[in-house]
Amino acid sequence: MYESYWELTAKPFENTPDPRFFYTSSQHEEALQRLVYGVRENKGAVMLTGVFGCGKTLLSQVLLSELDRDVYRVAIITNPMMSALELLRSIATRLGAVDLPNRKSEILKDVLLDSIQDMLMGNYTDGKQTVILIDEMHAIEDKMIFEDLRMLMNFQLQDRFLCTLIFMGQPELKKQIELNKQLNQRIAIRYHVQPFNIEDTIAYVSHRVKIAGAARQLFDKASLPVIFQKSGGIPRRINQICDMCLFVGSAQNAKVVTSALVEEASKSLEG
Ligand SMILES: Nc1ncnc2c1ncn2[C@@H]1O[C@H](COP(=O)(O)OP(=O)(O)OP(=O)(O)O)[C@@H](O)[C@H]1O
Ligand SMILES: [Mg+2]
Repeated sequence: MYESYWELTAKPFENTPDPRFFYTSSQHEEALQRLVYGVRENKGAVMLTGVFGCGKTLLSQVLLSELDRDVYRVAIITNPMMSALELLRSIATRLGAVDLPNRKSEILKDVLLDSIQDMLMGNYTDGKQTVILIDEMHAIEDKMIFEDLRMLMNFQLQDRFLCTLIFMGQPELKKQIELNKQLNQRIAIRYHVQPFNIEDTIAYVSHRVKIAGAARQLFDKASLPVIFQKSGGIPRRINQICDMCLFVGSAQNAKVVTSALVEEASKSLEG
């Protein structure tokens, strides 16, 4: 809507996990390196935690874009709020399993686990590495599911895992996983992503604006600390505030976003 007013080629602050807009703060860089390392080095499990809106799902998309599709087969579960059987079924289906029993009553855990193991073995003999990524994992209610996921790590050859599991979720996931000591012990790599500090917040805003095609700074110097203060450095909140600033600014014929405009935009977001 306001793109033409601000002379942009795209909306800079959409809350979508679009890797084109990825800003490599030192934390996001390190998180990505650990994810890539875990996958390339065939670790059994990797865990990424962080508060809501800090970029975990985006990191999953960036990771995907870094992995060579000729080498890696990736199954992503984005909404794991399901029963144990449904989750295993989803994993099997995303790995390409067909002819799974349709009616719930017919589905047996063993059949699903066998099917997943077949898919993992098939990938291995095809020279492919398998990655199973579970996002929003803190939302899993039935903690027995963690035990089923641990079972997947038992699918291994003498010298290697048949898949790398990546667990992503909000901070409470750490505690939930600690309750399953065996699973917890098997997590080889971890990272916790925090909100941005003020420097990263400032760099983040100009990065997104630049990627969206701006030839100049759209936010004046004094506006940026206010954006940091109002957002707590959480990228999703920064996006909401900045999007509203550009919207309100265009309606007011503003030349740049000022601190007063940030105040006004934030108020309107509070409702
Ligand atoms: N490093 C970054 N570079 C660019 N955009 C980012 C970055 N981190 C987060 N964002 C943006 O912030 C928004 C929220 O990020 P994302 O959805 O990945 O958070 P999340 O940690 O998965 O949150 P939740 O716990 O609620 O699922 C996204 O629109 C994303 O584009
Ligand atoms: Mg997410």
